[in-house]
Amino acid sequence: MYVYGIDICPIIKALIALALVGFLTVVALVKFYNVVTCGYFKSRVKMDGKTVIVTGASGGIGKETVRELAKRGARVILACRNLDKAQKVRDEIAEETKNESLIVKKLDLSSLKSVREFAEDILQSEQRLDVLIHNAGTAEKKLIKTEDGLELTMATNHFGPFLLTHLLIDLLKRSAPARIVVVASSLYQLTSLDLNNINPSSSWFPPWIYYPSKYANICFTLELARRLEGTGVTANCLHPGLIDSGIWRNVPVPLNWPTNLIAKCFFKTPQQGCQTTVMLACSDELKEVTGKYFMDCKEHTLNRGVSDVSKAKKLWELSEELVKLKPTDPKI
Ligand SMILES: NC(=O)c1ccc[n+]([C@@H]2O[C@H](COP(=O)([O-])OP(=O)(O)OC[C@H]3O[C@@H](n4cnc5c(N)ncnc54)[C@H](OP(=O)(O)O)[C@@H]3O)[C@@H](O)[C@H]2O)c1
Repeated sequence: MYVYGIDICPIIKALIALALVGFLTVVALVKFYNVVTCGYFKSRVKMDGKTVIVTGASGGIGKETVRELAKRGARVILACRNLDKAQKVRDEIAEETKNESLIVKKLDLSSLKSVREFAEDILQSEQRLDVLIHNAGTAEKKLIKTEDGLELTMATNHFGPFLLTHLLIDLLKRSAPARIVVVASSLYQLTSLDLNNINPSSSWFPPWIYYPSKYANICFTLELARRLEGTGVTANCLHPGLIDSGIWRNVPVPLNWPTNLIAKCFFKTPQQGCQTTVMLACSDELKEVTGKYFMDCKEHTLNRGVSDVSKAKKLWELSEELVKLKPTDPKI
């Protein structure tokens, strides 16, 4: 192609090559930055004799959390809704770590019935529970009501874990010192919690319900820690970082194209994303720390009114009603 008698093909080719090299350099620099700034839990502390439940262990951060705990000798229960997928993960990690004490159990956090069945199974089969890790999470594309009349994202991210914690609390207390770890998100900062609408029936952009659900995770953890004071059970929450995992799969078209590219090129890996969770689950230094929020293996401050005690209490009371807590269920 000639412009003013000059062949511009080589120039265009050179510009494309330059842009490509520039892009790859930026990607490499961001990856390097991720490695340098990511908090790594370097302690070799062992977890032999400890039983840990990890929800949502069939992929992403949950899978890597199981791998790290399995390496440390823990008995890990993979609490998952997709048993085939979870079994494959279990077998892969068991083979790699030579830890055969990895057990897959069915748990669909969006169903109160499934949460109750899972808890019943655990209470029947387990003598102790040292760590409960609420890792499973979703950001649904559409506003869907579950069989319990709960909005699906809120049900999976908040109401299911809220009920599960109640049903397993006595086992945790009997196993004290024990820990509850909640995988929240720094995206809580993009919202607040509308206490008049914690179970939304409409939304003009349903994926954004993810933000209040993560806000609720933090309110819940702080209130839980207050209620568990003196029991030997701690509760802490965390932001894992921006991680290239399955959580982005529900971003609607066409927003998913740039999102997937950005996630692949710039976000941290699930292995980097599990570091703070593993630290909160095992670190000796943190055995008495409770009611805190962590990121990159360090404690962080909170904002946007998420530490408001009265808000957390109200959320708690509303959640008790919505999960239909029975008089015979343990109270926290
Ligand atoms: N990725 C990030 O950048 C990021 C940032 C901040 C916080 N987080 C939080 O990190 C946690 C882990 O997410 P991830 O990034 O690893 O995403 P992911 O790869 O999508 O993993 C989510 C896990 O949750 C499970 N899950 C979803 N709905 C469930 C249900 N109803 N019952 C039981 N399990 C269910 C999924 O199971 P299936 O395999 O069956 O789908 C999967 O195992 C979530 O709480 C998320 O909010 C992630």
